[in-house]
Amino acid sequence: YEHGPVDGRPRMYTEMLEQPASVERALRGRLDERFATAHLGGLDMDARELRAVRRVKILGCGSAYYVGQMGASLVEELARIPADAEAASEFRYRDPVIEPDTLYVAVSQSGETIDTLLAVQEIRRKGGRVIGLVNVVGSAIARACDGGIYLHAGPEIAVASTKALTTMFVGFALLALQLGRVRDLSVADGRRLVAGLQSLPAQIEQVLGDEERIARAAASLATAESLFFVGRVRGYPVAREGAQKFKEISYRHAEAYQMSELKHGPLALVSPEVPTVALVPDDELTDRNVAALHEIDARGGPLVVVTHAGVDLGELRAERIDVPRNERELDPLLLTVPLQLLAYHAALTLGHDVDKPRNLAKSVTVE
Ligand code: AGP
Repeated sequence: YEHGPVDGRPRMYTEMLEQPASVERALRGRLDERFATAHLGGLDMDARELRAVRRVKILGCGSAYYVGQMGASLVEELARIPADAEAASEFRYRDPVIEPDTLYVAVSQSGETIDTLLAVQEIRRKGGRVIGLVNVVGSAIARACDGGIYLHAGPEIAVASTKALTTMFVGFALLALQLGRVRDLSVADGRRLVAGLQSLPAQIEQVLGDEERIARAAASLATAESLFFVGRVRGYPVAREGAQKFKEISYRHAEAYQMSELKHGPLALVSPEVPTVALVPDDELTDRNVAALHEIDARGGPLVVVTHAGVDLGELRAERIDVPRNERELDPLLLTVPLQLLAYHAALTLGHDVDKPRNLAKSVTVE
Protein backbone atom coordinates (compact mmCIF):
# COMPACT_ATOMS: atom_id res chain seq x y z
CA TYR A 1 0.00 0.00 0.00
CA GLU A 2 1.29 3.39 -1.03
CA HIS A 3 1.56 5.94 1.72
CA GLY A 4 0.98 9.04 -0.36
CA PRO A 5 -2.22 10.74 -1.50
CA VAL A 6 -4.73 8.84 -3.62
CA ASP A 7 -5.78 10.65 -6.82
CA GLY A 8 -4.47 13.86 -5.31
CA ARG A 9 -6.68 13.45 -2.23
CA PRO A 10 -5.16 13.05 1.23
CA ARG A 11 -5.19 9.54 2.67
CA MET A 12 -7.30 10.70 5.56
CA TYR A 13 -9.96 11.81 3.10
CA THR A 14 -10.09 8.55 1.17
CA GLU A 15 -10.18 6.63 4.44
CA MET A 16 -13.11 8.67 5.72
CA LEU A 17 -14.94 7.95 2.49
CA GLU A 18 -14.30 4.22 2.85
CA GLN A 19 -16.29 4.03 6.07
CA PRO A 20 -19.57 2.72 4.65
CA ALA A 21 -17.59 -0.17 3.15
CA SER A 22 -15.37 -0.79 6.19
CA VAL A 23 -18.35 -0.80 8.56
CA GLU A 24 -20.11 -3.21 6.23
CA ARG A 25 -17.05 -5.50 6.36
CA ALA A 26 -16.88 -5.29 10.16
CA LEU A 27 -20.50 -6.49 10.31
CA ARG A 28 -20.31 -9.15 7.62
CA GLY A 29 -21.23 -12.64 8.80
CA ARG A 30 -21.51 -11.53 12.42
CA LEU A 31 -25.21 -10.71 12.74
CA ASP A 32 -27.78 -13.39 13.38
CA GLU A 33 -31.25 -12.10 12.47
CA ARG A 34 -33.01 -15.28 13.57
CA PHE A 35 -31.77 -15.16 17.14
CA ALA A 36 -31.40 -11.37 17.13
CA THR A 37 -27.81 -11.50 18.25
CA ALA A 38 -24.20 -11.30 17.13
CA HIS A 39 -21.75 -14.17 16.71
CA LEU A 40 -18.14 -13.43 17.42
CA GLY A 41 -16.38 -16.73 16.96
CA GLY A 42 -12.96 -15.22 17.65
CA LEU A 43 -13.90 -14.58 21.28
CA ASP A 44 -13.56 -18.29 21.86
CA MET A 45 -16.03 -18.11 24.77
CA ASP A 46 -19.23 -20.12 25.07
CA ALA A 47 -22.52 -18.79 26.48
CA ARG A 48 -21.68 -20.03 29.97
CA GLU A 49 -18.35 -18.22 29.96
CA LEU A 50 -19.95 -15.07 28.58
CA ARG A 51 -22.59 -15.19 31.30
CA ALA A 52 -19.91 -15.47 33.96
CA VAL A 53 -18.49 -12.04 33.06
CA ARG A 54 -19.19 -9.65 35.94
CA ARG A 55 -17.33 -6.59 34.70
CA VAL A 56 -15.83 -5.32 31.45
CA LYS A 57 -12.67 -3.22 31.44
CA ILE A 58 -11.58 -1.61 28.18
CA LEU A 59 -8.03 -0.42 27.53
CA GLY A 60 -6.71 1.63 24.63
CA CYS A 61 -4.76 4.80 23.88
CA GLY A 62 -5.80 8.10 22.33
CA SER A 63 -8.76 7.74 20.03
CA ALA A 64 -8.96 4.01 20.72
CA TYR A 65 -9.47 4.91 24.39
CA TYR A 66 -12.28 7.33 23.52
CA VAL A 67 -14.03 4.73 21.37
CA GLY A 68 -13.47 2.39 24.32
CA GLN A 69 -15.55 4.79 26.41
CA MET A 70 -18.30 4.58 23.80
CA GLY A 71 -17.93 0.79 23.99
CA ALA A 72 -18.26 0.78 27.77
CA SER A 73 -21.61 2.59 27.48
CA LEU A 74 -22.79 0.05 24.90
CA VAL A 75 -21.88 -2.86 27.19
CA GLU A 76 -23.61 -1.29 30.17
CA GLU A 77 -26.72 -0.36 28.21
CA LEU A 78 -27.17 -3.60 26.30
CA ALA A 79 -25.74 -6.20 28.67
CA ARG A 80 -26.21 -4.38 32.00
CA ILE A 81 -22.67 -5.34 33.01
CA PRO A 82 -20.62 -2.62 34.73
CA ALA A 83 -18.05 -1.43 32.20
CA ASP A 84 -15.49 1.29 31.92
CA ALA A 85 -12.56 2.34 29.76
CA GLU A 86 -9.15 3.46 30.89
CA ALA A 87 -6.07 4.83 29.14
CA ALA A 88 -3.86 1.78 28.64
CA SER A 89 -0.83 4.06 29.11
CA GLU A 90 -1.78 4.60 32.76
CA PHE A 91 -3.20 1.22 33.64
CA ARG A 92 -0.20 -0.83 34.69
CA TYR A 93 1.44 2.01 36.61
CA ARG A 94 -1.30 2.00 39.24
CA ASP A 95 -0.76 -1.67 40.05
CA PRO A 96 -4.31 -2.63 39.03
CA VAL A 97 -6.29 -5.37 40.72
CA ILE A 98 -6.95 -8.05 38.10
CA GLU A 99 -10.24 -9.84 38.71
CA PRO A 100 -10.96 -13.34 37.39
CA ASP A 101 -14.56 -12.56 36.41
CA THR A 102 -13.68 -9.35 34.56
CA LEU A 103 -13.41 -9.46 30.77
CA TYR A 104 -10.55 -7.19 29.69
CA VAL A 105 -10.72 -5.72 26.19
CA ALA A 106 -7.68 -4.23 24.47
CA VAL A 107 -8.56 -1.97 21.55
CA SER A 108 -6.03 -0.92 18.92
CA GLN A 109 -5.92 -0.20 15.21
CA SER A 110 -2.25 -1.07 14.69
CA GLY A 111 -2.07 -3.79 17.31
CA GLU A 112 1.44 -2.50 18.02
CA THR A 113 0.85 0.34 20.50
CA ILE A 114 3.34 -0.42 23.25
CA ASP A 115 1.25 0.94 26.14
CA THR A 116 -1.71 -1.22 25.15
CA LEU A 117 0.50 -4.27 24.61
CA LEU A 118 2.14 -3.85 28.03
CA ALA A 119 -1.31 -3.54 29.64
CA VAL A 120 -2.35 -6.82 27.98
CA GLN A 121 0.80 -8.55 29.23
CA GLU A 122 0.26 -7.22 32.75
CA ILE A 123 -3.30 -8.59 32.81
CA ARG A 124 -2.30 -11.98 31.43
CA ARG A 125 0.65 -12.24 33.84
CA LYS A 126 -1.87 -11.85 36.67
CA GLY A 127 -4.18 -14.49 35.20
CA GLY A 128 -6.82 -12.24 33.63
CA ARG A 129 -8.61 -12.94 30.36
CA VAL A 130 -8.09 -10.34 27.60
CA ILE A 131 -9.72 -10.13 24.21
CA GLY A 132 -8.48 -7.81 21.47
CA LEU A 133 -10.39 -5.49 19.16
CA VAL A 134 -7.63 -5.08 16.64
CA ASN A 135 -7.39 -4.11 12.99
CA VAL A 136 -4.01 -5.46 11.93
CA VAL A 137 -4.13 -9.23 11.64
CA GLY A 138 -1.31 -11.06 13.40
CA SER A 139 -0.08 -7.91 15.18
CA ALA A 140 1.59 -8.04 18.59
CA ILE A 141 -1.58 -7.22 20.55
CA ALA A 142 -3.69 -9.67 18.54
CA ARG A 143 -1.16 -12.40 19.32
CA ALA A 144 -0.90 -11.51 23.00
CA CYS A 145 -4.67 -11.78 23.66
CA ASP A 146 -6.74 -14.84 24.56
CA GLY A 147 -9.09 -14.21 21.67
CA GLY A 148 -10.59 -11.31 19.83
CA ILE A 149 -12.47 -9.53 17.12
CA TYR A 150 -10.69 -8.37 13.98
CA LEU A 151 -12.05 -5.04 12.78
CA HIS A 152 -11.65 -5.58 9.00
CA ALA A 153 -11.31 -1.82 8.43
CA GLY A 154 -8.65 -2.47 5.80
CA PRO A 155 -5.23 -0.80 5.96
CA GLU A 156 -5.33 2.58 7.68
CA ILE A 157 -2.37 4.75 6.69
CA ALA A 158 -3.34 8.29 7.74
CA VAL A 159 -2.08 9.25 11.21
CA ALA A 160 -5.48 10.69 12.09
CA SER A 161 -7.56 7.57 12.59
CA THR A 162 -11.05 7.51 11.09
CA LYS A 163 -12.22 4.27 9.51
CA ALA A 164 -10.58 2.10 12.16
CA LEU A 165 -12.46 3.99 14.88
CA THR A 166 -15.88 3.48 13.35
CA THR A 167 -15.20 -0.26 13.00
CA MET A 168 -14.08 -0.32 16.66
CA PHE A 169 -17.46 1.10 17.59
CA VAL A 170 -19.14 -1.64 15.54
CA GLY A 171 -16.96 -4.25 17.27
CA PHE A 172 -18.12 -3.00 20.68
CA ALA A 173 -21.75 -2.95 19.54
CA LEU A 174 -21.47 -6.58 18.41
CA LEU A 175 -19.77 -7.60 21.65
CA ALA A 176 -22.38 -5.78 23.74
CA LEU A 177 -25.18 -7.38 21.73
CA GLN A 178 -23.79 -10.88 22.18
CA LEU A 179 -23.17 -10.31 25.90
CA GLY A 180 -26.67 -8.84 26.20
CA ARG A 181 -28.41 -11.71 24.43
CA VAL A 182 -26.89 -14.37 26.68
CA ARG A 183 -28.33 -12.30 29.55
CA ASP A 184 -31.50 -10.26 29.71
CA LEU A 185 -31.58 -8.33 26.45
CA SER A 186 -34.92 -9.22 24.86
CA VAL A 187 -35.40 -10.61 21.36
CA ALA A 188 -37.21 -7.37 20.46
CA ASP A 189 -34.28 -5.24 21.60
CA GLY A 190 -31.86 -7.60 19.87
CA ARG A 191 -33.82 -7.21 16.62
CA ARG A 192 -33.91 -3.45 17.02
CA LEU A 193 -30.11 -3.37 17.30
CA VAL A 194 -29.45 -5.83 14.49
CA ALA A 195 -31.56 -3.64 12.19
CA GLY A 196 -29.85 -0.50 13.50
CA LEU A 197 -26.41 -1.92 12.80
CA GLN A 198 -27.46 -2.97 9.31
CA SER A 199 -28.56 0.60 8.52
CA LEU A 200 -25.23 2.13 9.51
CA PRO A 201 -23.33 1.91 6.19
CA ALA A 202 -26.04 3.78 4.26
CA GLN A 203 -26.40 6.33 7.05
CA ILE A 204 -22.65 7.00 7.15
CA GLU A 205 -22.87 7.59 3.40
CA GLN A 206 -25.59 10.14 4.09
CA VAL A 207 -23.42 12.01 6.61
CA LEU A 208 -20.51 12.03 4.19
CA GLY A 209 -22.87 13.49 1.59
CA ASP A 210 -23.29 16.54 3.82
CA GLU A 211 -19.63 17.47 3.36
CA GLU A 212 -20.25 20.93 1.91
CA ARG A 213 -22.28 22.11 4.86
CA ILE A 214 -19.74 20.64 7.29
CA ALA A 215 -16.88 22.31 5.37
CA ARG A 216 -18.63 25.69 5.78
CA ALA A 217 -18.94 25.14 9.52
CA ALA A 218 -15.27 24.11 9.64
CA ALA A 219 -14.18 27.31 7.93
CA SER A 220 -15.97 29.31 10.62
CA LEU A 221 -14.08 27.39 13.34
CA ALA A 222 -10.63 27.37 11.79
CA THR A 223 -9.80 30.95 12.78
CA ALA A 224 -10.41 30.33 16.49
CA GLU A 225 -7.31 29.75 18.62
CA SER A 226 -9.26 27.68 21.09
CA LEU A 227 -12.56 25.82 21.11
CA PHE A 228 -14.76 23.50 23.15
CA PHE A 229 -16.30 20.19 22.14
CA VAL A 230 -19.17 19.28 24.44
CA GLY A 231 -21.60 16.42 24.89
CA ARG A 232 -23.23 14.41 27.65
CA VAL A 233 -23.26 10.71 28.49
CA ARG A 234 -23.17 8.99 25.06
CA GLY A 235 -22.11 12.27 23.49
CA TYR A 236 -19.15 12.91 25.79
CA PRO A 237 -16.67 10.39 24.33
CA VAL A 238 -17.74 11.65 20.92
CA ALA A 239 -16.76 15.15 22.04
CA ARG A 240 -13.40 13.81 23.27
CA GLU A 241 -12.74 12.13 19.95
CA GLY A 242 -13.86 15.23 18.03
CA ALA A 243 -11.49 17.46 20.03
CA GLN A 244 -8.66 14.96 19.56
CA LYS A 245 -9.08 14.89 15.76
CA PHE A 246 -9.29 18.67 15.63
CA LYS A 247 -6.10 19.10 17.68
CA GLU A 248 -4.14 16.51 15.73
CA ILE A 249 -4.50 18.10 12.32
CA SER A 250 -5.54 21.74 12.84
CA TYR A 251 -3.14 22.44 15.77
CA ARG A 252 -5.85 24.47 17.47
CA HIS A 253 -6.48 24.07 21.16
CA ALA A 254 -9.65 21.99 21.44
CA GLU A 255 -10.95 20.88 24.80
CA ALA A 256 -13.68 18.34 25.41
CA TYR A 257 -16.08 18.83 28.28
CA GLN A 258 -19.26 17.28 29.57
CA MET A 259 -21.95 19.82 28.70
CA SER A 260 -23.22 19.48 32.31
CA GLU A 261 -19.83 20.58 33.69
CA LEU A 262 -19.59 23.83 31.72
CA LYS A 263 -21.37 25.80 34.41
CA HIS A 264 -18.94 24.49 37.01
CA GLY A 265 -16.05 26.43 35.53
CA PRO A 266 -15.28 26.50 31.82
CA LEU A 267 -18.26 28.71 30.97
CA ALA A 268 -15.96 31.54 32.12
CA LEU A 269 -13.98 31.05 28.90
CA VAL A 270 -16.94 31.11 26.51
CA SER A 271 -16.84 34.28 24.40
CA PRO A 272 -17.18 35.34 20.74
CA GLU A 273 -13.55 34.17 20.29
CA VAL A 274 -14.12 30.68 21.70
CA PRO A 275 -16.57 28.58 19.66
CA THR A 276 -18.24 25.40 20.87
CA VAL A 277 -19.04 22.27 18.91
CA ALA A 278 -21.96 20.59 20.68
CA LEU A 279 -23.35 17.07 20.31
CA VAL A 280 -27.08 17.17 20.88
CA PRO A 281 -28.71 13.89 19.85
CA ASP A 282 -32.43 13.42 20.27
CA ASP A 283 -32.37 11.53 23.56
CA GLU A 284 -33.40 11.81 27.20
CA LEU A 285 -31.01 14.77 27.69
CA THR A 286 -31.97 16.92 24.71
CA ASP A 287 -33.86 19.58 26.68
CA ARG A 288 -31.01 20.02 29.14
CA ASN A 289 -28.50 20.17 26.34
CA VAL A 290 -30.52 22.80 24.49
CA ALA A 291 -30.74 24.88 27.68
CA ALA A 292 -26.94 24.74 27.97
CA LEU A 293 -26.60 25.85 24.32
CA HIS A 294 -28.63 28.94 25.17
CA GLU A 295 -26.23 29.73 28.03
CA ILE A 296 -23.37 29.62 25.53
CA ASP A 297 -25.27 31.71 22.99
CA ALA A 298 -26.14 34.32 25.63
CA ARG A 299 -22.39 34.81 26.18
CA GLY A 300 -21.77 35.31 22.48
CA GLY A 301 -20.10 31.93 22.00
CA PRO A 302 -20.35 30.77 18.36
CA LEU A 303 -21.95 27.33 18.05
CA VAL A 304 -21.83 24.37 15.72
CA VAL A 305 -24.50 21.87 16.76
CA VAL A 306 -24.50 18.27 15.60
CA THR A 307 -28.00 16.97 16.15
CA HIS A 308 -30.97 15.11 14.68
CA ALA A 309 -33.59 16.55 12.33
CA GLY A 310 -36.60 17.67 14.31
CA VAL A 311 -34.69 18.65 17.47
CA ASP A 312 -35.94 22.10 18.35
CA LEU A 313 -32.98 24.30 19.22
CA GLY A 314 -35.18 27.38 19.73
CA GLU A 315 -33.91 30.82 18.76
CA LEU A 316 -30.22 30.08 18.57
CA ARG A 317 -27.42 31.46 16.44
CA ALA A 318 -25.80 28.21 15.38
CA GLU A 319 -24.51 26.27 12.41
CA ARG A 320 -26.57 23.12 12.45
CA ILE A 321 -25.52 19.69 11.16
CA ASP A 322 -28.20 16.99 11.23
CA VAL A 323 -27.20 13.33 11.25
CA PRO A 324 -29.60 10.44 10.50
CA ARG A 325 -31.49 8.80 13.36
CA ASN A 326 -30.70 5.25 14.38
CA GLU A 327 -31.21 3.40 17.64
CA ARG A 328 -30.07 5.70 20.45
CA GLU A 329 -27.36 3.30 21.59
CA LEU A 330 -25.74 3.60 18.15
CA ASP A 331 -25.89 7.41 17.97
CA PRO A 332 -22.20 7.94 18.85
CA LEU A 333 -21.01 6.48 15.56
CA LEU A 334 -23.10 8.78 13.39
CA LEU A 335 -22.22 11.78 15.56
CA THR A 336 -18.51 11.03 15.16
CA VAL A 337 -18.38 11.12 11.36
CA PRO A 338 -19.18 14.86 10.91
CA LEU A 339 -16.49 15.69 13.47
CA GLN A 340 -13.92 13.93 11.29
CA LEU A 341 -14.95 16.08 8.33
CA LEU A 342 -14.97 19.16 10.53
CA ALA A 343 -11.36 18.59 11.64
CA TYR A 344 -10.32 17.72 8.09
CA HIS A 345 -11.78 20.86 6.52
CA ALA A 346 -10.52 23.13 9.30
CA ALA A 347 -7.02 21.75 8.70
CA LEU A 348 -7.34 22.26 4.94
CA THR A 349 -8.55 25.84 5.48
CA LEU A 350 -5.43 26.44 7.54
CA GLY A 351 -3.25 24.93 4.81
CA HIS A 352 -1.99 21.95 6.82
CA ASP A 353 -0.92 18.62 5.39
CA VAL A 354 -3.47 16.40 7.15
CA ASP A 355 -1.53 13.23 6.37
CA LYS A 356 1.62 14.49 8.08
CA PRO A 357 0.56 16.02 11.37
CA ARG A 358 3.55 17.45 13.19
CA ASN A 359 5.05 15.52 16.13
CA LEU A 360 2.83 12.46 15.62
CA ALA A 361 3.52 8.91 14.42
CA LYS A 362 0.91 6.46 13.18
CA SER A 363 1.65 4.05 15.98
CA VAL A 364 3.59 4.59 19.16
CA THR A 365 5.76 1.54 19.64
CA VAL A 366 8.18 2.85 22.27
CA GLU A 367 7.21 3.97 25.76
C1 AGP B 1 -5.88 8.86 16.38
O1 AGP B 1 -6.25 9.81 15.46
C2 AGP B 1 -4.50 8.96 16.90
N1 AGP B 1 -3.52 9.17 15.91
C3 AGP B 1 -4.10 8.11 18.09
O2 AGP B 1 -4.75 8.64 19.20
C4 AGP B 1 -4.32 6.59 18.03
O3 AGP B 1 -5.69 6.31 18.03
C5 AGP B 1 -3.61 5.93 19.22
O4 AGP B 1 -2.24 6.20 19.18
C6 AGP B 1 -3.85 4.46 19.33
O5 AGP B 1 -3.36 3.76 18.22
P1 AGP B 1 -3.77 2.26 17.99
O6 AGP B 1 -5.24 2.22 17.74
O7 AGP B 1 -2.97 1.83 16.78
O8 AGP B 1 -3.40 1.49 19.22
